[in-house]
Amino acid sequence: MSGMAGTAGMSADQAARYDALMARLERRYFPDTRAWVCGRASRETLEIAIGTGLNLAHYPADVRLTGVDHNPAALAIARGRARRQGRDLRLTEADATALPYPDAAFDTVVCTFALCEVPDDDAAITEALRVLRPGGSLLLADHVVATTRLVRFGQRALETLTIPLSGEHFTRRPSAHLLALGAEVIASDRFAHGAIERVHARKRRAAGKTDHDDPRPQ
Ligand SMILES: C[S@@+](CC[C@H](N)C(=O)[O-])C[C@H]1O[C@@H](n2cnc3c(N)ncnc32)[C@H](O)[C@@H]1O
Repeated sequence: MSGMAGTAGMSADQAARYDALMARLERRYFPDTRAWVCGRASRETLEIAIGTGLNLAHYPADVRLTGVDHNPAALAIARGRARRQGRDLRLTEADATALPYPDAAFDTVVCTFALCEVPDDDAAITEALRVLRPGGSLLLADHVVATTRLVRFGQRALETLTIPLSGEHFTRRPSAHLLALGAEVIASDRFAHGAIERVHARKRRAAGKTDHDDPRPQ
């Protein structure tokens, strides 16, 4: 959301403007969404495309958090925020479609307001599910294609500009692909004319496997 993609040298001013814009959008269109998403995270958690770290304050204290983003300037801001909040956070510069972690390394993977601007969102979800253990939680929130025809029309018009300018899509809906990619939605919410969606999905286990077969069951 709001085109932070490709801002390789984001200044402190740009970051402050981004955070202020996000705060206004959140109050108006998706209040409590960061808390809804992050409150469901547990144990070893990876946040993909963590940006300036706006989710940090919403994670339970006992979550062990790792973050990635392809923008080093955003990571520097997230690092400062984590320090100020006294939160232990490991950060790595990485692309969402090529994560530097082994299979099944995390209990939870989070991605908020970023799949809209990753060039191949299915590839990013596939990679998120690769690093998630079977039965682990995939937690998403984003703006998605609206359920109201008029809003959809506006989204289509808007993305004729935003896709070429900043890579931002408005008519995607990642949750529609989750089942085919290997995850089941166990809770979701859609509001603001259906244009905001938050999703809690679980990575499917291989047939016949249960919690008892998992080396780190929840
Ligand atoms: C709109 S910001 C959202 C940041 C944060 N997730 C939030 O909820 O505020 C989108 C973020 O996605 C990151 N991003 C976009 N494409 C990416 C990719 N392919 N790999 C890693 N990060 C990416 C951008 O650098 C930016 O920090």
